[in-house]
Amino acid sequence: MTWHILVPDNVNRRATDLLAAIPDFRVTAPGNMPRNEVLAEIGSAHALIIRSATTVDAELLAAAPKLRAIARAGVGVDNVDLEAALARGIIVVNTPGGNTISTAEYTLALMLALARHIPQGHASLSAGNWDRVAFGGVELQGLTLGIIGMGRIGREVAARAGAFDMVCIGYDPYVDARSAHTAGIEKQDSLEQVFARADFLTLHALVTPETRHMINATSLELMKPGIRIINAARGALIDETALTAALQSGQVAGAAVDVYPEEPPPVDYPLLNLPNVIHTPHLAASTDGAQVRVAIEAAELLRDGLLRDDWRNVVSSD
Ligand code: MLT
Repeated sequence: MTWHILVPDNVNRRATDLLAAIPDFRVTAPGNMPRNEVLAEIGSAHALIIRSATTVDAELLAAAPKLRAIARAGVGVDNVDLEAALARGIIVVNTPGGNTISTAEYTLALMLALARHIPQGHASLSAGNWDRVAFGGVELQGLTLGIIGMGRIGREVAARAGAFDMVCIGYDPYVDARSAHTAGIEKQDSLEQVFARADFLTLHALVTPETRHMINATSLELMKPGIRIINAARGALIDETALTAALQSGQVAGAAVDVYPEEPPPVDYPLLNLPNVIHTPHLAASTDGAQVRVAIEAAELLRDGLLRDDWRNVVSSD
């Protein structure tokens, strides 16, 4: 039997070459496929490799009668209707480790850019100004970094923030105080305690019914005035209307966002139009190293699963 692997998103060539070199596989990977083309091709596909651009929803699943597996080259599977896929017996796998360092480093890059207004200074000089006053910043040394979600990425962020002599505190119901301490993070008993102490807050949580809009009008009020917020996790963690109001009032001094509830965000997405917000197009995992690692791992997961029934990194619905 020949397995047809459809790769609608831009996934590193080394992964598709790896699969295409195996006689049992036929690979369709034109890169960046528009939705109508995905719908036209998916009928014959036995497996998909996706990043975040393709939404695997009821419509796509209904058009995919032969689909056996979905491999996410990355961590988040929020673009997959997991319940529907699992109910159909489709196996969903992901590659949670491959982009950890890229994402942690990017979080630090956003934090430094936020602390020192680097994009604003760049834009000002590019526009012909020479303003050394408007963009005065803050030092990170001695400031407290609140880390929401102390998994792989949160821990790597802490390691790097420690090098800047920041005090790292955090919250994660699934991580105990001892293992947080090993990662250089002082675990707090509640989100509220983190909000009250943090000068910078960085989000590294999945979107679940509990975490959706965790940054909202109520939580923003509990935060230390002048806090700065970084989100390189998922856009839906933030209620953008509430954050916009807090940025306008000064309760929040600045925010850096790399992720959006809808990607790309609409032009009127409120956080795109504020002077104290830095925004980038979901770049945290976009390094050569990370993209090669997650793509090859996704391809190997499908190869071993489809050919030997050896399924690893299987995502469940809970
Ligand atoms: C992930 O979930 O792994 C990241 O958001 C990166 C990506 O979507 O490629």
